[in-house]
Amino acid sequence: MPSPVVLALLFASPFAFAEALPIVAEPSPERQKQLVHLVRQDCGSCHGMTLQGGLGPALTPGALRDKPVDSLVATIYGGRPGTPMPPWHRFLTEPESAWIVQQLLAGFPEE
Ligand code: HEC
Repeated sequence: MPSPVVLALLFASPFAFAEALPIVAEPSPERQKQLVHLVRQDCGSCHGMTLQGGLGPALTPGALRDKPVDSLVATIYGGRPGTPMPPWHRFLTEPESAWIVQQLLAGFPEE
């Protein structure tokens, strides 16, 4: 029988995480590779190959840190009407967009 402390941790921790981090379903390792390639190539054409900015703003952890995660995910998934930022919903699911935001905030992986 686990101690009450262990039980409390088991029940408490998922909620603690839910507050701190967006809940993101991990794409398969193969899909993660494709997504990294897509961001480096297709997003890089506007945001810069090193994501430091170009036609579009920088997508570095420092540039995105203070922006609401939900709005960043929505920008990728749905685009920003009236700006050159196109929607990506034909190529990405919403959880994949959230995964990309999470990687951008952590420092985007190299290919
Ligand atoms: C055709 C050029 C273009 C492409 C391609 C493009 N973007 Fe953008 N993106 C922009 C522009 C321009 C903005 C700024 C929109 C505005 O004025 O609010 C933007 C804004 C964003 C933002 C919001 C940044 C912020 O500081 O609020 C994110 C996140 C983003 N893009 C991610 C992506 C990702 C990820 C991809 C690839 C899947 C991508 N973009 C592809 C042009 C582009």
